[in-house]
Amino acid sequence: MCGEIMAVVPIRLGSVVIDPPLFQAPLFDYTNHFFRLLLRHFGGVGLTCTELVHARGLVELFTRRGQFPEQLWGVRDEPRPLAVQLWDNDPVWLVRAVSLVVAELAPSVIDLNFGCPSHRVSQRSAGGANLLKNPEQIGMLVEEAVKAAGTTPVTVKTRLGWDPTCSVAGRVAEIVEQAGAAAVTIHGRFATERMRGHADWQAIAAVKRYLRRIPLIGNGDIRTPSQAVAAFASYGVDGVMIGRAAVTTPWIFRDIRALLEGQPVPPPPGPDEQVELLLEYMNRLAELLGPHRALTLTQKFCCKFVVGRRGASKLRLVISQARSLPELRRVIAQVFVGEGPKG
Ligand SMILES: Cc1cc2nc3c(=O)[nH]c(=O)nc-3n(C[C@H](O)[C@H](O)[C@H](O)COP(=O)(O)O)c2cc1C
Repeated sequence: MCGEIMAVVPIRLGSVVIDPPLFQAPLFDYTNHFFRLLLRHFGGVGLTCTELVHARGLVELFTRRGQFPEQLWGVRDEPRPLAVQLWDNDPVWLVRAVSLVVAELAPSVIDLNFGCPSHRVSQRSAGGANLLKNPEQIGMLVEEAVKAAGTTPVTVKTRLGWDPTCSVAGRVAEIVEQAGAAAVTIHGRFATERMRGHADWQAIAAVKRYLRRIPLIGNGDIRTPSQAVAAFASYGVDGVMIGRAAVTTPWIFRDIRALLEGQPVPPPPGPDEQVELLLEYMNRLAELLGPHRALTLTQKFCCKFVVGRRGASKLRLVISQARSLPELRRVIAQVFVGEGPKG
């Protein structure tokens, strides 16, 4: 692959240019402000995105206390392009949240989630992926959000359908395009599969013929730079979105960009740099969210960060057993300079 330049075109979402067309997937409890800054540090990411935020919860919190939920902290001052992801099944709350976020935080993009299969979102609140049972309702919600967003582009992230008997991604893509969405991302699984099995990239590719104007972004199971490049070449997607591999390898977007440009993949950061970045992530998180939350979120991040490393399950155990930030700091310094856990 090295040496060949792959003709990948930047994506335009209204006046926002996504170049390269490489998207960071939203991951609840992972893709916070400092994680997104880490991605920016390495470069190559075209669009970063917040975790999903409940529209009604956001509006109620802002009305009561004049503040945004933790998931949106940092957004105001962060590098763009940046998307804020919202979910709700009620157009009134969605419109209020979109207007508020656009006015107060001015993100580059509003992304709407119609793919979350979690019990809280899809069952208890009949939002997220549950709405795949009713594509017309998705269309109505997108139309209202687009009106409320004004010139800020609204995109949609969804799945293949609720279950294999309800394969509606093409229909949903068609509907949201008509409703004014600027792009659609398809995670190639059904909601009932959650994260099991494999993402079906043939099914993602099949959505393309339902779209006339807006770009299709493919998502699911991309773990290496060459898989990302192959996704463009083999499935005709306009953009590629990456979630879990970005936590394990935050420099993956930089590496994909290099491959797309026909350059060799740069070496990964050395152990000292990795330790320094993890500690900076943890310290800055502690300043923003306090020690308790910083401990939990850094442990989660580190447990994914070690995926694929030698002795990963033992490393995960040591990381998750840390009971305080100083303890976790010692573990990080030990683990990531390659000494491995003691004992
Ligand atoms: C821990 C976790 C949290 C997630 N949180 C969100 C979320 O907040 N919003 C969303 O649209 N998708 C969410 N997803 C789905 C991812 O965005 C993505 O679609 C999925 O992980 C497949 O991409 P990947 O194989 O590159 O990770 C989450 C997935 C995981 C594993």
